[in-house]
Amino acid sequence: MDELLGLKESFRAEVASVQNLADLQNLKNRYSGKKGLLTLQLKSLSSVPPDQRPQYGKTLNEIREDIEGRIRDLELSFKEAEKERRLLAEKIDISLPGRPSHFGTAHPLTQVLAEIKAIFVSMGFSIEEGPEVELDHYNFEALNIPKDHPARDMQDTFYVSDDVVLRTHTSPVQVRVMEKQKPPLRIIVPGKVYRCDSDVTHTPMFHQVEGLMVDTDVSFSDLKGLLELFIHNLFGKGTPVRFRPSYFPFTEPSAEVDIGCIFCAGKGCRICKTTGWLEILGSGMVNPRVFEMAGYDPEAYSGFAFGMGVERITMLKYGIDDLRLFFENDLRFLRQF
Ligand code: DAH
Repeated sequence: MDELLGLKESFRAEVASVQNLADLQNLKNRYSGKKGLLTLQLKSLSSVPPDQRPQYGKTLNEIREDIEGRIRDLELSFKEAEKERRLLAEKIDISLPGRPSHFGTAHPLTQVLAEIKAIFVSMGFSIEEGPEVELDHYNFEALNIPKDHPARDMQDTFYVSDDVVLRTHTSPVQVRVMEKQKPPLRIIVPGKVYRCDSDVTHTPMFHQVEGLMVDTDVSFSDLKGLLELFIHNLFGKGTPVRFRPSYFPFTEPSAEVDIGCIFCAGKGCRICKTTGWLEILGSGMVNPRVFEMAGYDPEAYSGFAFGMGVERITMLKYGIDDLRLFFENDLRFLRQF
């Protein structure tokens, strides 16, 4: 019994000097571990005379509960204090000024392309796509450009093999769509095209938008009206537009479309080569030969087509004088849009 009470006293003294969780763990082992002082007392219960056993057992239990309870409490408060310290150490000062984040914007070509698409979609056109690695057949033959045709020289073609090219324009998609769909047809085709050409105004890859409208009685005045509307939407209502006779193998008659030079307001400058006009697209009535090759009856249907370069239009719209700026990804340039 004395020993038991002594245990209580010694615990009280020792617990007073516990500083941290490690100390506490040691103390815990010393008292209630496998070979701890309390455990030993419990084991020696059998050697206590039977008449004293109940009293001894009761006291031992009380002391044990007391000691273990105190250890639990301390454990909790050490853990609590530890958590407190960690939270304090990890504290974030929410009053510090934030780091500014820079929002990206769509590339100018993407913006202008989105505008072009929106204008044509609002006029009932749908958007089609086609392959960039194209058969010679679709890129040339089916557009009325046979192998020996001089028009092939104008387009510096990247050949993949004898009959496969990187498409030099988006026009082949006209034929691909006509092979799949019956008229009436109103489509635009945005996409990348490739030509073996590189200087201040040419890059080996650039973007075009093709257009095609086919129905039973589409006329040249439809072409003029629609393209004029498109140009006024894109460049502003008062923009002068002129249609100039031209030649493309896949249209007959053909016209190139000019707008009044936006740099000199038509007076004549370096950019418009003193003509006062800037060419922005090619167009024409679909050549009956093209209809035939696509499987449309040229007696029953008529249509017009057009094609434009997205880089060129973007340069004119924003007064950009160097094509290479589009591909260098200089943020000082891009952030202006
Ligand atoms: N494909 C022509 C080019 O790349 C542009 C073009 C002209 C497309 C007249 C057409 C068109 O659809 O009718 O230069």
